[in-house]
Amino acid sequence: MKSRRFHLIPLVLAAALATPALAADSPAAVNARFVADDAPEAADIRAQGENAINRLAITLVREVTNAVAKDGAEAAVDVCHLKNLTTTKGVIDGLPRITAVKKTSLRLRNPANAPDAADQLALEQFKQQMDNGDAPSPILIQRVEPAGGAPEWRVYKPLGVAPKCMLCHGDSADQSPGLRAKLAKLYPTDLAAGYSTGEWRGVLRVTVAEAPAKKP
Ligand code: HEC
Repeated sequence: MKSRRFHLIPLVLAAALATPALAADSPAAVNARFVADDAPEAADIRAQGENAINRLAITLVREVTNAVAKDGAEAAVDVCHLKNLTTTKGVIDGLPRITAVKKTSLRLRNPANAPDAADQLALEQFKQQMDNGDAPSPILIQRVEPAGGAPEWRVYKPLGVAPKCMLCHGDSADQSPGLRAKLAKLYPTDLAAGYSTGEWRGVLRVTVAEAPAKKP
């Protein structure tokens, strides 16, 4: 299915998006809009978000790769996936403006990673782009304004399935019996197997705090 394939290195810069999106009929309706990635109001958020996501993506892939190489895939199931990010007083080391990190998908392995209403809009936006046969935007910037809650900036990056992800997200028939049994035990509702290399897996998302006000 060509249209669903994800280009690991998107060569096409996405057209600016300025889609107001209001999930009116979802139970957890949220007021969220995508902001064009060249919008001046979002320039600082974009820079912070992209820098963080790029660093986190490298950490993620390195963690998984090292764990698989050192102890094998079965043991690596316990260590990968951003659980081991080092933080000091709740702040991720080296990324003081990042207040939350999440990985989510339309096909979940762990239900605890389920998208919230604003995440869902971003996942659907990427899916729509790919269903249209377009490359996904390299990033999406989103302003979330919950009724009565504090507004928040989010930055999303689509993740593709690289060959090294296939061990745990490819066809489960290709997995060792030990790995297969462990995944089945930990994730009885797993929908995140059966991918092919290059397919779209989900997103990495960060929440970026506004820049501290400049001292006069
Ligand atoms: C060693 C096995 C393993 C490898 C290799 C692996 N994953 Fe995962 N992946 C998992 C497990 C286990 C979870 C569930 C983690 C949790 O409980 O939060 C998961 C969850 C995820 C999620 C979160 C959404 C969900 O379904 O719960 C994303 C996105 C993801 N993986 C992407 C990737 C990508 C991209 C790669 C390759 C760079 C990769 N994974 C490689 C085991 C693996």
